[in-house]
Amino acid sequence: MRPVILLTGKKGQVGGELLRLLPRVGEVVAVGHDQLDLSNPSDIRQTIRRVRPQLIVNAAAYTAVDQAETDESMAHAVNAEAPGLMAEEAKKIDAALIHYSTDYVFDGTKKTPYDEIDSVNPINVYGKTKFAGEQAIRGSGVLHLIFRTSWVYATRGRNFLLTILRLATERKELRIVSDQVGAPTCALEVAEATAKVLTSIRDKNDSGFVFSEVSGTYHMSATGQTTWYDFAKTILEKAEATPHILEWLTAATKERPLIARSLIPISTKDFRSPTRRPPYSVLSNARLSKTFDVALSDWRTELQRCFASDSVASNQSAD
Ligand SMILES: NC(=O)c1ccc[n+]([C@@H]2O[C@H](COP(=O)([O-])OP(=O)(O)OC[C@H]3O[C@@H](n4cnc5c(N)ncnc54)[C@H](OP(=O)(O)O)[C@@H]3O)[C@@H](O)[C@H]2O)c1
Repeated sequence: MRPVILLTGKKGQVGGELLRLLPRVGEVVAVGHDQLDLSNPSDIRQTIRRVRPQLIVNAAAYTAVDQAETDESMAHAVNAEAPGLMAEEAKKIDAALIHYSTDYVFDGTKKTPYDEIDSVNPINVYGKTKFAGEQAIRGSGVLHLIFRTSWVYATRGRNFLLTILRLATERKELRIVSDQVGAPTCALEVAEATAKVLTSIRDKNDSGFVFSEVSGTYHMSATGQTTWYDFAKTILEKAEATPHILEWLTAATKERPLIARSLIPISTKDFRSPTRRPPYSVLSNARLSKTFDVALSDWRTELQRCFASDSVASNQSAD
């Protein structure tokens, strides 16, 4: 019998990709926000007790980083309390939990890629609630994998890639922060890496997974590093060089679409965001690679792959 996997956040960037890939490793019962509200503890308990999964994959989260600053109780309920409750329920039925966390657990004072053993010090509400979620999972004693990733984008949803493409049709110039360094990670790569990890720990009968030797926290982001400014510039350069996207950009704007040359680098202090973000949050995937022999691509390669799919432009026009 194939293992039953309960997937939350099926309409999110990572969740949407997991929905396509996880059926390779198990029987997936997937729920979205409308079917399971993670701010409602009894919803969580009932769903887990009804499905009785062998594995819960929690891809749902409160990810609106700026909004979290003024909506702390909801961010805390979804990012901290819900994962803790899932862990507690999972432990009761001997299930394992896969959960995603963030580079924003770090304060960004380091100058070389963060390892899992580096001390955390989140500097915004989102980062604090995500770290509290990690702690709740670790404290529950459930067998788990916490994958910290960074700067996630996809061909759908709310993300930097699609925002830049939309703004390219609306603005004549764009001012982008050039002093925050990280690694933009495509949601598809996170889902693929997760599926590969699961394949690598399948038990002999294909009826479950062996988490006991590998339970813990792992970094899982694209390799290489860049700034938001350079990421935006690369997005527009690739858009200009990709016929179906250039065609869409040109059709969507009355004049010439914005070009990479029209971007202006600015500093974090000039951006005047209410939210503090780490100036450096590159993650080292060495532990992931050593434990599971799973590697992610360089961020430019991931972006190229994303552009190769027709869905970038088609999902923009659907907005
Ligand atoms: N996005 C990033 O840049 C980033 C960076 C680092 C780490 N991560 C982590 O990676 C994981 C996946 O992120 P993602 O980018 O795929 O996020 P996403 O696209 O924002 O998807 C999150 C999903 O969670 C759902 N959700 C929000 N509140 C909920 C609630 N109360 N109950 C049930 N579902 C709820 C959302 O549904 P609605 O849209 O209907 O609310 C959405 O479908 C998260 O753990 C996130 O913290 C993300």
